[in-house]
Amino acid sequence: MQSGNVFDSWSHNKFVSNQKYNFSREEILKVLPKSFIDDAYASISNWEGYKRTPLIDLNKLSKNYNLNKIFYKDESKRFKLKSFKALGGAYAVEKISAGNKDIIVSTATAGNHGKSVAWGAQRLGLKSKIFISENVSESRARDIASFGAEIIRVDGNYDDSLKACIKQSTENNWEIIQDVAWQDYELVPKLTMSGYSVMIKEISEQTKHYITHIFLQAGVGGMASAVIAGVARYFKRIPRIIIIEPESADCVLASIDNSKLTKVDIKKESIMGGMSCGEVSLVPWQIIKNSVNNCLSLSDDNIATTVAMLARGEFSSDKIIGGECSAPGIMSLIMSCNNKKIKQSLDLNEKSNVLLIGCEGDTDTTLYKRLISLGNETLK
Ligand SMILES: Cc1ncc(COP(=O)(O)O)c(C=O)c1O
Repeated sequence: MQSGNVFDSWSHNKFVSNQKYNFSREEILKVLPKSFIDDAYASISNWEGYKRTPLIDLNKLSKNYNLNKIFYKDESKRFKLKSFKALGGAYAVEKISAGNKDIIVSTATAGNHGKSVAWGAQRLGLKSKIFISENVSESRARDIASFGAEIIRVDGNYDDSLKACIKQSTENNWEIIQDVAWQDYELVPKLTMSGYSVMIKEISEQTKHYITHIFLQAGVGGMASAVIAGVARYFKRIPRIIIIEPESADCVLASIDNSKLTKVDIKKESIMGGMSCGEVSLVPWQIIKNSVNNCLSLSDDNIATTVAMLARGEFSSDKIIGGECSAPGIMSLIMSCNNKKIKQSLDLNEKSNVLLIGCEGDTDTTLYKRLISLGNETLK
């Protein structure tokens, strides 16, 4: 990559620092205990078909910005589900069902979490009921149904699908396997997060380089806080942690900026579907509030270009299948490097070993094809 890259002009929307930063392994592991994290790894690493996902060296991008290493955890290879979500919902199903073959599990989902719950149920011979809103594409619905789930489509948005799920599950005695917490509903979200933390256990064994920076995509904050808990459990040195969100759904950023949970009214759904959430979940917030250094938001512009560049192998020697929620990890690093002040304040330099989470592959195949073709147009 020489000077004159398409991404040289890319810039972020907002960037904030956490005035309450005070990383404490002890506090974090009180929220998500070591025993939960260890049990998740012990269980999941024994599942049929388990393999670590690749940790790819984005050698072309690190050379371009003169950083030591950029690692990309490629979750498109996670079982057959093509996203990190495979680790969470399916593990919670296993724990909650605890060998009982008679229960029916349910959840509300934007896509990937529901697929994980459906797959987790199918693995154990259980029935599943998956609630989706109008916003979930037909191709995602078909995909979830292919794991033996009954799909229940609900009028309205994600919140409406969650309300319907809670109501019908309570009436019918189905076990709700939800990835978000509410009052007196914290165990399942914690189990889900414990499953996600397996990514960090793998990374701790996949490289000897100390990670100095992690860029973490957030929706309700489940993945980000699980990774942070994994860092507290497995990493010797604590990296700088930067949360990334769509500008239209920057609830973590707003909460960090206000030093208290702050809801965001989503006026326009981002193309980064899994990250289009207006409210941080309660359990993740307990971890995130003191342990992230910075938050950054970005627009949907250039998602398609980034997806196409990943596929063409323009950041690394490997070609990577990365979906709409994988792209913002790379984009936010690019944007941070493009801005002198941010680059300096984050200490991004030739000693930096950056970790990015490529959280999904082509989980929505129709959208992925559209992004590739749009992206290829811009790269002509
Ligand atoms: C596919 C997908 N869904 C959802 C999310 C958000 O996860 P959470 O809602 O746990 O923050 C991400 C990444 O952040 C993602 O890649």
